[in-house]
This record gives sequence, structure tokens and C-alpha cells, in this order.
Amino acid sequence: MNGEFLRLWPQTASEHASSIDWLIWSFTGMMSIFVVPVFVLSILFAVRYRKGTKAPRDHRPRGSMKVEMTWIVLPFIGSMIIYLVSAKLYYEVRTPPADAMEIQVVAKQWMWKFQHPGGQREINTLHVPVGRPVRLNMISQDVIHSLYFPALRIKQDLLPGRYTELWFNATETGRYEVFCAEYCGTDHSKMLATLVVQPPQEYERWLSQAGASESLAEQGEVLFRQLGCSGCHGPAAVAKAPNLEGLYGRRVALQDGGSVVADQAYIRDSILLPHKQIVAGYESIMPSFANVIDEEGVLRLTAYIRSLGKVGHASGTIDER
Ligand code: CUA
Repeated sequence: MNGEFLRLWPQTASEHASSIDWLIWSFTGMMSIFVVPVFVLSILFAVRYRKGTKAPRDHRPRGSMKVEMTWIVLPFIGSMIIYLVSAKLYYEVRTPPADAMEIQVVAKQWMWKFQHPGGQREINTLHVPVGRPVRLNMISQDVIHSLYFPALRIKQDLLPGRYTELWFNATETGRYEVFCAEYCGTDHSKMLATLVVQPPQEYERWLSQAGASESLAEQGEVLFRQLGCSGCHGPAAVAKAPNLEGLYGRRVALQDGGSVVADQAYIRDSILLPHKQIVAGYESIMPSFANVIDEEGVLRLTAYIRSLGKVGHASGTIDER
């Protein structure tokens, strides 16, 4: 591991990593075409025409439309090529495929917590299968952190109160360093993790050994009952609260006349800040669970609500079909 830390150029463990390296080297090459002659000529002229040397007589520059246009048009085309190539790569690096496996990430001072769809949890180590797109759904429990995978050439901030995402498709098995890249307090420099990329069978074996008796959604269902949510949001509900079946992904009408799509941010707000958005036709009597559950709990509840699918028609939602 120590040898790897001394490595000057990081390892390459994904398709995007190679593309990003290629981009950096080709830009460096293009820049050199301009930078090297400018530096060399500056030094050359400084020596050639230094004080005391005789300059040729008539040295006034004459205008030339041809030269002017060349150095306007060529750099313009060059910068447009740089822009288009980078924009295309940026779009690819930022757009996870729909079939990506989703892993939940919660950062807190000073550790990384990962939850797999099957409910397996790990801290400061992330196991993933090789050759399969993985999407990280991320949030911070406290301050801003940043998850950085040098071998994948990707980095993204984790913010308190807001979800961000990152995706990758690892192409090489192995163990790779993971860093926190945003100063986050005393032990920031120790906020490290290891990415373990495994062949699919080995990953499956790891999953079964990591042993989770319940999936993320099932853990959410248990929590849902423990917190007493089912007392209001359920078939045998005492209080009148919106039905959560088929809620996820639908548009919800709000009391103030607006509407919002019931995505994970909306569900998180509804649990922690229930008075922020009141569903049309309901009273605001739900208590906040901000001091009761942490971000991992919110992610489990969200997984459960999501698992309730689009069956039926949740009360208070607008059918968009
Ligand atoms: Cu977390 Cu720096």
C-alpha cells in the first residue's frame, strides 16, 4: 500500500479514468504548442535585443489582415474542440445509467458509511463488483465532506441536507484508496476508505458473508413501525395522513397551491421538516423526526416508501398521465 501512496500518477480503474487522462494529456500537448514558442522567443528576443545592442532601423509592425484572422480563428476552433470534447465527457461522467446498482453513502466526522441494496453495511470500505455501473446516493450527517476516488478520477461533495450523486463502472479488480477531499475538521486527514473492486462471484460471496437478514427497504419497514409511522400512514390509521402507497415519483399537490414531485429530497423533508411542505387537504400535525433518526434511517425509510411502488393511487397526488 505504501508504494501506491508514493505513486506519482494514480492508477486507472475505470473507462472514464482513461478518457480523463487522455483529455488532460491532449490539452497539455495543445497548450504546449502555444506556450513553448512564446517562452522560447521571449528569452531569445530578450537576449538578442537587450540594452546596448543595435536594433534594425525601421521596426514598426505593419498590419496584416491574414495574420490577424489566423490567430483569431485557429484558437477559436481549438477552444471549441476542447469545449465539445470536455462537455461530452462531463455529461457521460455525470449521467448514471438507469440500471446502475445503488449504494447509499452517509459521511460523518470522520467516517464513510456505505449501505448496499441488500441491507449490508460497511464503514470505510466499499465493496463493488467489477464491470457493473454503481451509483452512489450521498448525503452528509454533519458538515461538507468530499468523496474522492483518484483511481476513478471522480470526486463529489457530500452536503448536509441535500443529496448528491456519483457513478462509476470499475474495469479493474483491486483495492484503491479513497479520500475525503474537503477539510472537515480535526480528523479530516484520517477520513480515508478503501474501494475493493471484485469479480462478480467474489462480490456475491462477500455480500452473503456480510450477512444482512433484511434488505434496505425491509429495514425501512421495521423502522417505519418502530417510529409509529404506521399509526397515521396506514390502513388501520388513527389519524388522517397521506397514504404512502404509490407515492414515490408522483407529483403531490401542496396546500399553498403549488406542487412537488415526491422524490427522495421531498420524502426526507417530509420526515425531518414536515411543516415545510403541507400536502393539500391535510393538517400539519406530523412531528419532526430530526432528533429521532439519522440520515441512514431516512435512507432506509425512503427505500421502504419507494418499495411501496406505484401501485394504487396515493391520496393527495396528481396523476400526470
Ligand atoms: Cu470529511 Cu474531510
